[in-house]
Order: sequence, then structure tokens, then C-alpha cells
Amino acid sequence: MNTLSIIKADTGGFVGHSEVHPEALQVARDAVSAAVADGLLIDGTVSRCGDDISLIMTHRHGADAEPVHSFAWDTFQKTTAVAERLGLYGAGQDLLSDAFSGNLRGMGPGYAELEFDERPSEPVICFLADKTEPGAWNLPLYKMFADPFNTPGLVIDEKMHVGFRFEVYDLYEERRVTFETPRETYDLLMYIGAPARYVVHRIDSIRLGIPCAATSTQRLSLIAGKYVGKDDPVMIVRCQSGLPAVGEVLEPFAMAYAVAGCMRGSHHAPIMPVGLAQATPARFDGPPRVVALGFQIKNGALIGPRDMFDDPSFDRARSQANEVMDYLRRHGPFEPHRLALEDLEYTTMHQLEANLADRWQPLTEPRVPAAR
Ligand code: F6R
Ligand code: MG
Ligand code: MG
Repeated sequence: MNTLSIIKADTGGFVGHSEVHPEALQVARDAVSAAVADGLLIDGTVSRCGDDISLIMTHRHGADAEPVHSFAWDTFQKTTAVAERLGLYGAGQDLLSDAFSGNLRGMGPGYAELEFDERPSEPVICFLADKTEPGAWNLPLYKMFADPFNTPGLVIDEKMHVGFRFEVYDLYEERRVTFETPRETYDLLMYIGAPARYVVHRIDSIRLGIPCAATSTQRLSLIAGKYVGKDDPVMIVRCQSGLPAVGEVLEPFAMAYAVAGCMRGSHHAPIMPVGLAQATPARFDGPPRVVALGFQIKNGALIGPRDMFDDPSFDRARSQANEVMDYLRRHGPFEPHRLALEDLEYTTMHQLEANLADRWQPLTEPRVPAAR
């Protein structure tokens, strides 16, 4: 059984938080080529969305494997060194720990991993996003695997008709729960409609008994206890032959749905599906971007990528994202453009609030004139 891993980190932006510098990408590509030559990896490729580098790798070590995670950690140290030398912005930003120990859990870099027996033909799409959080995958995953208005295969294909099993993480309480669709659709939606806290981590086919999708679920702010940059999640989705078709997997992104995370991690904004050339958030440190890299996997070799959103059928979603961005921007510092107070918990706004704490007077007491 092989494993497909995407491991990602922001180790420094060029310019500001908008892109990865080509030298950093080259250093990562050289490291991955060497790891393939050494036999650590079967195959690997390097890509990026905004200021986040993604290592996309196939190997035989399984999920959470020490050799693969430590390789990614070392590679991000190397890209951080490039960022430091060039003075790139936020060098080493996502490397929250001083030293590597065991695996990357709780250390800053995000990862999505899926271990599976390769089918005779194995189409897979790797999604990379910037300026948003892991719950941003909840809505599209629901549509792909549980909404017949998005995925006619749920109605028509006998292998899909039975439904799918969603594993959901509660990021605040560090616990998990599983729901089967369509039977428990409403229970599932009750939770995943709150994507800041509840995140779809994995989906399995009930009929085929195989894993179909995996996401990165770490929240940097919950690890660090403060805002250190957005999580910028990644996701793996297998397609076809009893799983959603490639077109059904891409269809949810034809709407620029609203996600949290843009500008100072503090704003809702529409997510814009783009080709790699346009995966460079600019206006208002956004709008958040998503790229879709399609691969056929053969004996672990990554045949691809195809840049799936580099296609005119997503032009309308891009222009919708611009229109929604105009509308939301006009709210300025007001909700719902700005996140709700509880979701701003890890920004420096709370320090400012603390400075004003003794200015508040109970309404039950007489008005004290403000000091001059
Ligand atoms: C980073 C991000 C940016 C920064 C913003 C302010 O992921 O989303 O919007 O939060 O550019 O950055 P600082 O405080 O470093 O100037
Ligand atoms: Mg950044
Ligand atoms: Mg980023």
C-alpha cells in the first residue's frame, strides 16, 4: 500500500504574504529529487499556492511516518534559510517548534495524507489553498460526497448510492466523530456548518470500503496560542469509478463561497479558484485562493500535475469572487466581513481590549465623568 502525502508550510513570502520566491521553490524541488533518488520517496513534486510551499509525495512509509515528516521538516529549514538570506517576509513563520520530534503533529506545517491500494487507474486531485483555514474544505466536501445537486453519481451510480462516511474533528476539544451520509446528513451539517471548530478530516466510501479524501486539519493559532499566520489548508480527493467524477469534485468551486482567513486572519472573503499563475493573493491580502492539481498515479509515480482551475469554466467563479469582495470590503471593520469576536480570539485585538478594560462602567452605577 502506498501513501500520498501533501506536507506544506509558509516559510517566507515574496512579496509580503503573496507568493513563494522561485529560489525557495528550487531548493525544495532539489530536496525532493534527492529523496526520490535515495529511495525515501517513490515520487514527488513541489508546488505552491500563495506564500505556502507544498511537497506532494508518494512513498511506502504510511501516514504520520517519521522519515517522511522529518524530510519535510528539513526541507522547510532549507527554504527558511533562503527566506532569511533574501529577507523574505515571515521567514520560518510556520515552523513553530525548535526541533523535530517524531512527526509534524503540532509543529506548524500542515499535512494531508491518504494510504491506499492503487486502482488500475488512479485519478487524484490535490487542492492547495491560501489565506484560509482547514474548515474551508467542509462545504465543497459536503457537496462532492453528499449533495446530489452537485454530484449526480450519488443518485445514478450504484457504488455511490449507499453513501459515504465522514470523519469530523472538533479542533477545540481534540476529539472526533463519524457520520454516514445520506442517513445522518443533518447531524453532519449541524457540525460542519461551523467550520472554525468542526472540520472534515477524512471521507471513506461505505460500499467500496476505501478512503476517498483527506484534509490537513491543524489550526496554527490553537497550536501557538496566538495569531501566527493562517493555516492555508491542503486536501487530497480520489476520483472516478464509484467515487465522485473529476468534474463533480471540481464543481463546488464554481461558486466563490465565503471563507474565513483573509487579511490578518480576521476577515471573511470569497474563495477564488485559480490556475497556478494566478495563485498569488494581492488585493487585501486575498481574495483567498485555491488551486487544484490533478494527477494520475501509476505504481506510485505522479503523472501530472494538470492545473485543473486554469480553465475558462471557472471564469465566472473568479468574477463572482471579485464582485463579492467589492461588496464585503464596503463593510470595512464591521461584521460579517470582519470575523465574529470569538474567532478573533488569537489576534492582538484582545491586548487592545485589555488596555480599555478599566474604562467600562456598570450601567447600574452613576455616570462617572470621563477624566480630561
Ligand atoms: C498572513 C496574512 C496577512 C498578514 C498581514 C499583516 O497570512 O494573512 O494578511 O496578517 O499582512 O502582517 P504583519 O502583521 O506581519 O504586518
Ligand atoms: Mg505568510
Ligand atoms: Mg499562506
